[in-house]
Amino acid sequence: MPKQVRIVEMGPRDGLQNEKQLVDTETKVELIARLGAAGLKAIEATSFVSPRWVPQMGDNAEVMARILRLPGVAYPVLTPNLQGFEAALAAGATEVAVFGAASESFSRKNINCSIAESLTRFEPVMLAAKAAGVRVRGYVSCVLGCPYEGEIAPDAVAGVAATLFEMGCFEVSLGDTIGTGTPGKTRRMLDTVARRVPIDKLAGHYHDTYGQAMVNIYASLEAGVAVFDTAVAGLGGCPYAAGASGNVATEDVVYMLDGLGIETGIDLDALVDTAGWISERLGRAPASKVARAVLAKRGLARAGGKV
Ligand code: HMG
Ligand code: MG
Repeated sequence: MPKQVRIVEMGPRDGLQNEKQLVDTETKVELIARLGAAGLKAIEATSFVSPRWVPQMGDNAEVMARILRLPGVAYPVLTPNLQGFEAALAAGATEVAVFGAASESFSRKNINCSIAESLTRFEPVMLAAKAAGVRVRGYVSCVLGCPYEGEIAPDAVAGVAATLFEMGCFEVSLGDTIGTGTPGKTRRMLDTVARRVPIDKLAGHYHDTYGQAMVNIYASLEAGVAVFDTAVAGLGGCPYAAGASGNVATEDVVYMLDGLGIETGIDLDALVDTAGWISERLGRAPASKVARAVLAKRGLARAGGKV
């Protein structure tokens, strides 16, 4: 088990991209500020994709202009192509992410091209990023299943992950986009990918659709993975994966890691406050069990009851 884990917060991007109602820029900016204050060191802020495809991220440049950047905190953004990269750079991004898939059908639905075409599109992004001194993270979607194709072979995941790593991505995040993975399958996929990409360059990005994300993180920790993508309050889904629910909740993961004695540098109380705050803004209860339990306990304590 690793002694420390790096959490990459997905709430403002993966979390909000699927919200039906447009979330105002001010709320996004405040969410990012609250997450930074809670100790998150990497907060995916927005994406520079087509606003026709994902209208919720249409205020990307404004978000980047308005966030207060804390020292030592990275604010990565998604860039699917050179056009997105150039816009991100102009908006002051210093870390970006390219995103591919291990499934041909998902690649087509999500970014309108084949896997091979997507990798070709990423090449000029990698070159431009290198010239600008910008770090590039890579994502692979559908690593444990595809909404259109079902099972995905671990070798297909390993192939795309290895290509992204060889192109110069500093880390490759493995996305269980539809959350169908289970721990044994997760371990087999990781062991296959780790033959091509060092385990310390891999991150787990697990959606919680089937309630398996926490156990998949535990299986990944046992395999040596020490970076996980999570979203405060369990926000989110993917606009091109019907029925997908959010990333595993940051506070659930931090609670488990605290219990295992694994350091994250994140203040659980401040995180729960943020989960409560954003959920209220969105007009719902937090999807996370830890946030609900802690908020209920606080409410009871305020009312003078037993906790
Ligand atoms: P396309 O239609 O093939 O692009 O879309 P195109 O190059 O043919 O251009 C068509 C139009 O889009 C043009 O505008 C371009 O200017 C514009 P027009 O001349 O028609 O007015 N365009 C752009 N506008 C803004 N920013 C850009 C950009 N590029 C072209 N970067 C494209 C291709 C990739 C743009 C489109 O498919 C797209 O935006 N897809 C984004 C989908 C998306 O954001 N999905 C969610 C994020 S991925 C995810 O959630 C998974 C992850 O969390 C991991 C996991 O869970 O698995 C990361
Ligand atoms: Mg995702």
